[in-house]
Amino acid sequence: MSTGLATSHGSEHTAILGIGAYRPTRVVPNSELVDAINSSDAWIQQRTGIKERRFAGPEESVQMMSVAASRKAMDRAGVEPAQIDCVIVATVSHMLQTPAIATAIGYELGTDKAPAFDISAACAGFCHGVALGSDMIRAGSAKHVLVIGVERLTDITSLNDRGTAFIFADGAGAAVLGPSDEPGIGPVVWGSDGEQFDLIRQKEDWRDVLAQETPALPHLVMQGNSVFRWASFEMAKIAQATLDRAGIGVEDLDVFVPHQANMRIIDAMARSMKLPQRVRIARDVAEQGNTSAASVPLALDRMIDEGEAKSGDIALLIAFGAGLAYAAQVVKVP
Ligand code: COA
Repeated sequence: MSTGLATSHGSEHTAILGIGAYRPTRVVPNSELVDAINSSDAWIQQRTGIKERRFAGPEESVQMMSVAASRKAMDRAGVEPAQIDCVIVATVSHMLQTPAIATAIGYELGTDKAPAFDISAACAGFCHGVALGSDMIRAGSAKHVLVIGVERLTDITSLNDRGTAFIFADGAGAAVLGPSDEPGIGPVVWGSDGEQFDLIRQKEDWRDVLAQETPALPHLVMQGNSVFRWASFEMAKIAQATLDRAGIGVEDLDVFVPHQANMRIIDAMARSMKLPQRVRIARDVAEQGNTSAASVPLALDRMIDEGEAKSGDIALLIAFGAGLAYAAQVVKVP
């Protein structure tokens, strides 16, 4: 029986129309970090594959990096700011509890009062945003969605913490999503495991921080070994499930863009998935470190810039991290 309410319908198919990224200018080699944590360049490279990373300067704010990445993505997509119907920002390092940084980013870009909000899904945030944006376009709530993954993790990382100082870094990536004649964004496979909530987290909650005699900014802490095991074993299964949902096999893949957490996790996943040799694998972590929500778009942007990912290539995106939260989808490279 009809309730008399109208409903909305959008485009049957969606695609990423453009990707952009911003890398902070300051390059920080392992040698700059090792003294404070009694480590070595060789140890860090052997355990993580990271040689150097980028640290944002004072002027390279979450907003500034997001705007730069978004302008590149919109340019490549051929979409004007006023055509953006929604701005989704995935981040854990915007330092105001409220309001969302997405509204300020939208305003600076000129998205003309489009809805704008932040999502908190840590390293999996960008792939969550792509899933949400794609579904919004298919449902008719938006035609073009700007999805940004951005972090200034150095603001919440202790350079004296042996378990994290050499891993986390800063940067921004962005994607413009829009309607398409054919499928360009496959079904998302996503989930969470709150039983492992404590594996990667802000050390104390804000009330506990303020109760301290000399309150200090809480930083990220991580049980690296447990995270490593979870990511290496569980995420390969999620990757396979994502290919199954998209109706393709590993032999159909051209490009693999996993979250840039750690080169050993990337290699372990590629082995478990039995990726054919010819599949190009994103290895941005070596020069960029782990930029959480920004890592997947940063890595894809580099592959496009360097000609490793070409328009029309079939790419598997998969991201995972604190929560524990994860999300993956197969996309066509714009
Ligand atoms: N430098 C040098 N040595 C270090 C060190 C450091 N920064 N941190 C730990 N060690 C030493 C330990 O003291 C220990 O020495 P011992 O064997 O003599 O006791 C040894 O290395 C192993 O310690 P462990 O904590 O088990 O390290 P690990 O092998 O698990 O490596 C990580 C640590 C962080 C590199 C690894 O756990 C990892 O990569 N985890 C995944 C992290 C990640 O990707 N997170 C992001 C997910 S979103």
